[in-house]
Amino acid sequence: MTYSRIAGTGGYLPEKILTNHDLERMVDTSDEWIRTRTGIVQRHIAADNEMASDMALYACRKAMAAGGVAAGDIDLIIVATTTPDMIFPSTACILQDKLGIEDCPAFDVQAVCSGFIYALATADMFIRAGKCRNALVVGTEIYSRILDWTDRGTCVLFGDGAGAVVLTQSDRPGILSSHLHADGGHRKILAVPGSICGGKVEGKPFVMMEGNTVFKFAIKVLEEVVYEALAENTLQVSDIDWLIPHQANIRIILSTAKKLGIPMEKVVATLDKHGNTSAASIPLALDIAVRDGRITRGQHVLLEGVGGGFTWGAVLLRW
Ligand code: ACO
Repeated sequence: MTYSRIAGTGGYLPEKILTNHDLERMVDTSDEWIRTRTGIVQRHIAADNEMASDMALYACRKAMAAGGVAAGDIDLIIVATTTPDMIFPSTACILQDKLGIEDCPAFDVQAVCSGFIYALATADMFIRAGKCRNALVVGTEIYSRILDWTDRGTCVLFGDGAGAVVLTQSDRPGILSSHLHADGGHRKILAVPGSICGGKVEGKPFVMMEGNTVFKFAIKVLEEVVYEALAENTLQVSDIDWLIPHQANIRIILSTAKKLGIPMEKVVATLDKHGNTSAASIPLALDIAVRDGRITRGQHVLLEGVGGGFTWGAVLLRW
């Protein structure tokens, strides 16, 4: 049997940090409100000349170094992003060029905050089908460019960053199962409802969100998809060594862990340092927990995400 496993991880956060106290000077908010309602303390903001592909490049170089895989060995690139460099070509193709890779399939996945889960599941299927050996799977986002910085309900929540993994062919799993869902009926509760037509932006090119509705929906589906992943692998909640949820809001993470009966000691939460980085949040959290030695070989790691669309999903793996 052919499986896939993560050979290396990498992350990148831009140099500029925007703290809650900085935001107090921009909108009617407070450090106390943001901390208690979201768990976020600071977020990183990309430089004016920095693009999603640049951040992806840094994260990929680290992941390739960690995995001992050279650029010439990469034969698939999937980039999950909601904030691509441009309408086309895809950020994956731009990244491929920056990596100096001349020929391999490269494409973007648009599933908002679930994007990395969608991309990882897709790469796993490519590898198990024998279509590639070493895939770069990346989440990279510059939400600072699609936020209305006068809207305190959304601008305090998000940040910029990138996370990447090298997914490689293996004769042992690796990825045990992946579970993807979408329900476009909920597309209006979280959206950037803008488009380009005739050289002009139509609609609103900023993040719009019904916060409470998103909150409830996220908690419901994040619990359901964990049980779905466990059932497929005949595992129990107690078999999960690490839960790595999408880093949107600490109250969503706490509620999900409590409903599942998973102690917070087994949950990786890094959003205090970088806010919600959408498709980058899960690989960033994974990279931090791998590099600080929390995640060790043989452990069961459950990645789960939820985001605009609405989309949600999980990947269960043995490290
Ligand atoms: N600072 C101070 N006050 C604020 C702020 C702010 N930044 N934002 C909103 N408020 C005010 C509101 O105006 C409201 O005031 P009012 O009572 O006078 O009308 C009050 O705070 C309460 O507002 P709520 O929206 O009810 O606050 P809530 O406790 O629901 O928290 C939040 C809002 C944090 C957005 C929450 O709903 C949430 O986290 N939702 C999930 C959204 C999320 O994480 N989205 C990320 C993208 S989706 C994803 O990644 C899954």
